[in-house]
Amino acid sequence: MTDPQLVLTERVQQALGSAFGPEHATEDPLIRPSQFADYQANVALSLAKRLRRAPREVAQAIADHLDTNDVSVEVSGPGFLNLTLRDGWIAEQAGQRLLDDRLGVPQPAPQTVIVDYSAPNAAKEMHVGHLRTTIVGDTLARTHEHLGNRVIRQNHLGDWGTQFGMLIEHLLDIGEEEALGMLAAGDGNAFYQAARHKFDNDPEFQQRSRRRVPLLQGGDPETLRLWREFIDYSNRYFTKVYRTLGITLTDDDIAGESMYNPMLPGVCDELEQAGVAEISEGALCVFPPGFTGRDDQPLPLIVRKSDGGYGYATTDLAAIRYRVSDLKADRILYVVGATQSLHFQMVFAAARMAGWLHDDVKAEHVQIGSVLGSDGKMFKTRSGKSIKLTELLDEAVVRAEAVIAERGYDPEARRQIARQVGMGAVKYADLSVSHDSEYVFDFDRMLALTGNTGPYLQYATARIRSIFRNGGIEPESATGPITLGHPAERALALQLLGFGSVVAAVADLSEPHRLCNYLFDVAQAFTSFYESCPVLKAEEESVRQSRLALSALTLRVLLRGLDLLGIEVPERM
Ligand code: ARG
Repeated sequence: MTDPQLVLTERVQQALGSAFGPEHATEDPLIRPSQFADYQANVALSLAKRLRRAPREVAQAIADHLDTNDVSVEVSGPGFLNLTLRDGWIAEQAGQRLLDDRLGVPQPAPQTVIVDYSAPNAAKEMHVGHLRTTIVGDTLARTHEHLGNRVIRQNHLGDWGTQFGMLIEHLLDIGEEEALGMLAAGDGNAFYQAARHKFDNDPEFQQRSRRRVPLLQGGDPETLRLWREFIDYSNRYFTKVYRTLGITLTDDDIAGESMYNPMLPGVCDELEQAGVAEISEGALCVFPPGFTGRDDQPLPLIVRKSDGGYGYATTDLAAIRYRVSDLKADRILYVVGATQSLHFQMVFAAARMAGWLHDDVKAEHVQIGSVLGSDGKMFKTRSGKSIKLTELLDEAVVRAEAVIAERGYDPEARRQIARQVGMGAVKYADLSVSHDSEYVFDFDRMLALTGNTGPYLQYATARIRSIFRNGGIEPESATGPITLGHPAERALALQLLGFGSVVAAVADLSEPHRLCNYLFDVAQAFTSFYESCPVLKAEEESVRQSRLALSALTLRVLLRGLDLLGIEVPERM
């Protein structure tokens, strides 16, 4: 454990224990980065209140008991403890980090983590909101895997429901081949809208559509065949988007709504027999305590409609039961739009009432904020039509090509770099904002080579690589030893030591933007270092070796971090 923040936490806790008794040894010392030292500990302020003593006095007592082998301490202000690590300690830890394949990332006891993400709807298009749940979910899955957890990806596709009666009839009307071609090209939305329009305006079509639903539910072979084709062609489009973006979802991860269909009657029976669900106005409902509507009436979670049909909530209850009992989940992450917050709160509450979800399992809704257009509304094209994702991604690549156009690459290399930069920009834009905030989709901003963007970080790695190329040195052979003479060297080394705890925090809190901010800080620390500390032209050989080693460690941290974000990195840029 060489993460500075963790080391200092432990040290201050020891001091708390010896100064105020063992019951204080587990207190959170509230270590934060500081402007005046490396870190500050703020615990004295809150502890003083509880002990009814002067905060500065409490701070001094902690300082007096602190093991100051590797750290110096100073009481400041109303009772802050300013903590400064010794240069020698930082240098030594950074040197060890060079030998550590995991770069300080811990490997806690493995858990089974289910990540429910992407989940577009067959027949409707995959919109930019699904893109964001896909990108955020993929980073969480990658991060948990890297921490050693057993990750089960679940793509909860919208591939079932009464609307498929209407869609199948429309498919037959326009001809199978024609229809499937549209779906494979990502025109699901146009297809859906045309079907919907006929359904609303043509009584004969509506009747046919309604008659098709029981055929589908009853397993009529021809109807099932058409439905399967339909789903397969939609999935082909989703897969194309996943491949373009480098998303790790495969066909094996598909666990769509249709998969749960056979379980729904059993789910309802179990809920009813356990007294968790009751009939209300003909429908079978759960009334989880604490949920009320506008009129203060208890809010129902409808699990079986009065016509006998099942809905979105029933499927999610079946899914949670399956994930806990069959997949043995310790943690289930639902990476889904923030607008579905009430749905998940009620599903979790109902699952708890049924005993399917219990204290040993954590179910969390990782709320994803909407992606907006420059008009502040949901992201659409100028004409108001929604955007095909493959076209959006193509545009990102074309624009990225313009950004790097002047760098003189041959056409093939340029296309490859443009693809990596374009995809990196789109992904980083989704990841670098806290997942529950909305943000405005803006190509110019996300493709900028300066600021907190994907291309800036890609460029930072390419620049470090070019140092090694120019020196004719392999980064792997730069092994130090690391010595810290200049403040910029020290700041960079200290920053690099924080990688492990950031990765752990991303998984704990489901917050990928923490890793983005961290990598951005690393890249900036490197820039300051590079501006004031010549590497290849360092005057002394030992300084040159140390700076090469720091550069190599920076490169490795950036590459590993970007890999967890699912962002590819061009060798040159
Ligand atoms: N298909 C749904 C939608 O587009 C998202 C499904 C999310 N996952 C779940 N288990 N409900 O809104």
